[in-house]
Amino acid sequence: MRTIKIFDTTLRDGEQAPGCSMDLKEKLELALALEKMGVDILEAGFAIASPGDFESVSEIAKVIKNAIVVSLARATMKDIDVAYDAVKHAVSPRIHTFLATSPTHMEYKLRMSEQQVLDTILQMVKYAKGKLNDVEFSCEDATRSDRNFLVKAVQAAVDAGATTINIPDTVGYTTPSEMSDLISYLLENVNGLDAVDLSVHCHNDLGLAAANTLAAINAGATQIETTMCGLGERAGNAAMEEVVMALHTRKDIFPVKTNIDTTRIYPVSRLVYSIIGMQTPLNKPIVGTNAFAHEAGIHQHGVLANASTYEIMTPESVGLTTNKMILGKHSGRHAVEDRLKDLGYTLTKEEMDELFTRFKALSDRKKTINDSDLEALVLHRIATNGAPWKLDRFTVNSGNYVACSAVVRLSHEGQLYEEVALGDGPIDAAYNAIDKIMNVPEHKLEDYTIQTISEGKDAQGEAIVKLGCCNRSYTGRGLSTDVMEASILAYINGMNKLL
Ligand code: KIV
Ligand code: ZN
Repeated sequence: MRTIKIFDTTLRDGEQAPGCSMDLKEKLELALALEKMGVDILEAGFAIASPGDFESVSEIAKVIKNAIVVSLARATMKDIDVAYDAVKHAVSPRIHTFLATSPTHMEYKLRMSEQQVLDTILQMVKYAKGKLNDVEFSCEDATRSDRNFLVKAVQAAVDAGATTINIPDTVGYTTPSEMSDLISYLLENVNGLDAVDLSVHCHNDLGLAAANTLAAINAGATQIETTMCGLGERAGNAAMEEVVMALHTRKDIFPVKTNIDTTRIYPVSRLVYSIIGMQTPLNKPIVGTNAFAHEAGIHQHGVLANASTYEIMTPESVGLTTNKMILGKHSGRHAVEDRLKDLGYTLTKEEMDELFTRFKALSDRKKTINDSDLEALVLHRIATNGAPWKLDRFTVNSGNYVACSAVVRLSHEGQLYEEVALGDGPIDAAYNAIDKIMNVPEHKLEDYTIQTISEGKDAQGEAIVKLGCCNRSYTGRGLSTDVMEASILAYINGMNKLL
């Protein structure tokens, strides 16, 4: 069986999408989770994009041991220099350089002739090879390129020493049969292409990204570029969980394997949605809330008789545990730790100490603690750990016949800062008080949501805010049984990122 290499670009193409930006801490946590899940190649970012991107690529390069760490680079010396500097400390570093090959991109974006494009590919792949051996070249907008020119472009990259050739469907334009045909055509017409990895990178504008990726695999692709939950530019990229579970479930027509531990899929998807501050969509394949739910009587009857009547894969195979255990005030550390393990979370001793303290605090406020509560505690750990500004205490005064006011006290490097403010409602008042304390650049509250984590009046509330500043959006998350506190924590979390 061939092993298909999984190239994850959640941290690059995924993070590039509006509303999906992540800070360094979140990127590191996600990179480690992806490594643990078994991705072979991890695109950590686009190092030249900003100093922050450079820092996250190089920090990820330092901690990842079992996957190749990649930085994207345009086909210029400067980009390649910076990409190399960012990944050079990785155990297995890769430079991924790209240049567009379609007539539209060459004419309107690059303003380059075909010959200039071919010369640049040859020179820049050689330049990258002078820095390290593992070099990937992508023909941006490959699926809208002239086939004969595409052959020349890929040949130039192979001749210059590229070890992986990537064929992106940049605008999600192709179809499965066309993709299959293109891959076969390239394999037949480019000398030496069978000696390097041949990859595809499919966008989902027509909802065909996973199908196109699968078609490419059957035509001979050896690497696929995907993102968790299909994050990515516009309609996103091929979702890793969809492609991997299709391969897993339909071994009869895909005689290939991957190194992905499929039982990590669900917990990693929860981490991704939690980081970008989005609720898991109801009907998302594999990881959606309803992906394994059966409501119709006839379906329930069938599943009870034999799950295979309406389930083509088991919930357990993607890491969804059906055994829901309830914990509470009297549950010990071992019970909590065991349950977390079943849910797919293994914490270090220090992380467990901290989590157990928060578990105890929660069990004082909430009678029963279920899987969703426990998972929320784990996921919110990343939001609060090591943040410079912390909530010390707050008071709000609200009513339908008084002006709402809030007093908020925050701590920062051991100092306490307190402010009082009025507002159009208690949340507005509290946020105004926080704005007074923190010396914040001009920003806008773009979105605010609150949802319950589990049932009951004592349920935990999870608040998510999106703060817009300097053409970027920052997600803040807060968790508490008190919705006012959750809202304040979310705002502080967003502000810490923004600052
Ligand atoms: O979609 C695309 O073409 C890309 C390339 C940079 C690989 O993301
Ligand atoms: Zn892309």
